[in-house]
Amino acid sequence: MSAAAPAGPTTVRRATDADLAQVGQVTAHAYVADGLVEADHWYVDELRDTAARAAAATVLVAVAPAVDGAPAERVVGTITLAAPGSPYAEIARDGEVELRMLAVDPAARRSGVAEQLVVAALREAVGRGDRRVVLSTLETMHAAHRLYARLGFVAAPERDWTDELTMRVHAWHAPAAPSARTESATWPPLRVVEVDGWRVGLSGGVTRRASSTLALRDVEDVADTVGRVERLYRDDGAPAVFRVGDPGNPAGLAAVLDARGYAVAAVTDVLVRDLDATVRPADGDPGTLGGGLCVRGTDVPDDGWLDLWLGGKGGAREPSRAIVTGAPARYLTATGADGTAVAVIRAAVVDDWVALSCLQVVPSARRRGIGRALTLHALAAAWEHGARRAFLQVEADNDVACRLYGALGFRPAHRYAYRVQPGHDVRTGC
Ligand SMILES: CC(C)(COP(=O)(O)OP(=O)(O)OC[C@H]1O[C@@H](n2cnc3c(N)ncnc32)[C@H](O)[C@@H]1OP(=O)(O)O)[C@@H](O)C(=O)NCCC(=O)NCCS
Repeated sequence: MSAAAPAGPTTVRRATDADLAQVGQVTAHAYVADGLVEADHWYVDELRDTAARAAAATVLVAVAPAVDGAPAERVVGTITLAAPGSPYAEIARDGEVELRMLAVDPAARRSGVAEQLVVAALREAVGRGDRRVVLSTLETMHAAHRLYARLGFVAAPERDWTDELTMRVHAWHAPAAPSARTESATWPPLRVVEVDGWRVGLSGGVTRRASSTLALRDVEDVADTVGRVERLYRDDGAPAVFRVGDPGNPAGLAAVLDARGYAVAAVTDVLVRDLDATVRPADGDPGTLGGGLCVRGTDVPDDGWLDLWLGGKGGAREPSRAIVTGAPARYLTATGADGTAVAVIRAAVVDDWVALSCLQVVPSARRRGIGRALTLHALAAAWEHGARRAFLQVEADNDVACRLYGALGFRPAHRYAYRVQPGHDVRTGC
C-alpha cells in the first residue's frame, strides 16, 4: 500500500510504539517495490518486524502530515541505527554505528526524505558520541550511492563482504568540531567567572549561549561546585544553565543535575563545513541577493538588524546588542527594493573558523531562497576575512533550518544539551 506524496514539511524523529506497524509496512514495501527482494523472501519478514528492531536498535521515522483525512501523521520513511555487537549490526566495530534498512515509501520519493533521514541519523550518531558511521549497500542501489557520496560517505572496499550477495561498505567520519572555547569566543558572555576551572557565563539570562556554564574539567565534588555556580546565577538574576555533552564534562555532572531537577531546555547540534574559494554568492555580486534584493554588511548591528533578529521583541534589544557585539562580526541584512529588511545573519570570525548565527527571514519572505542565499553571502564574506571552516549551532528539532544547512553542505560534528535549573526559563535568542 502506498501513501500519497507529502503535503507539507516532513519531520524526522524517533519511532514510537504507535509508528511500528507503519514502519514495517513502509520498509517492506520500499524494498519489494524496488525489486531488492522478492515479496515471499524471509528477509521481508525481518523488514516488517519493527518491534524486534526497535527493541534492539534505534529506529528513526520520517513523518509527513495528513492528506485527505488520513491519520494525523504518516510514516513515509525510516532508518535504523545499530550499535556494534547488537543483533542488527553486521559490520560495525567499536566506536562506530551502523545504518540499516533505509527505506522511503515510493510515493514520497524525490523530495529529500532519504537525505533528511540519513542526516538525522548522522546527527543522532554524533549525539551518542559515535564518530564513525558505516553501512552496506548493494551494487545496484544507485540512488542510495549518490546520496551517500553527497553526504560525505566514502567507499571502504577492504570491508566489502558477501552473504547471498556482495555488499559494498561505505563509511562516514564526523568532522572536527570547534572547541567549546572557540564557540564561546564567537558569542562571549557579558561576564565570565571561573569556578573550580568551570567557565560560568553570566549575561542576565539573555541567550543560553551567553548565560550558561562550560563544565570542561573534573572537580573534586560536582554537587558542591554546582551549588556555588547556582549562587552566582542567583546573584545575576538568572537561572543556572549548564552545557552537558562536551568532552571534558565530569562523569557525574548529568546525574547531579538530574538529582536537582534540571530539565533539558534544548538539544543543540553543532554543524560544520569547510570553506574554499568557490563559496560565492549565487550571482557572484556581494551587493545583491537575486530576486531584486540587496545585501548590506556592517561591523555593528543597527536597530533594524537587531529587531529583525529578535522578531520584533524590542524589549530585549539592549542586552542582546551587548552580547552580539562582544566579538568582532559582520552583520548582513537583505533588503527589498523599497529598503525594507527581510532577513539578517551574523558572521563572527575567530582563528580560521567563522560562526554563523542569528539567521532569520521574516515569515512573509520565506521559501523564496533568501535564507540559502544570505547564508552563502555570509560564508563568502567570511572567506574574504580569512575563515577556512564554518560552524553554526542549531536546535536539533529545527527541521527547516537543519534541511537548509544540510543542503549547504553543513555536517554534524557535535551535540550538547542545555540543562536549566527548575522553576526558571532562560530568554533565548540564538
Ligand atoms: C530557517 C529559515 C532561515 C529558512 O529561510 P528561507 O528563506 O525560508 O529558506 P530558503 O527558501 O532559502 O530554503 C532553503 C532550503 O531550506 C529548506 N526549507 C526552508 N523552508 C522549509 C520548510 N518550510 N519546509 C521544509 N524545508 C524547508 C529546504 O531544503 C529549502 O530548499 P528548497 O526550497 O530547495 O526545498 C527561516 O525558516 C527562518 O527564518 N526560520 C526562523 C529562524 C530560524 O530557525 N533560524 C535558524 C536558526 S539556527
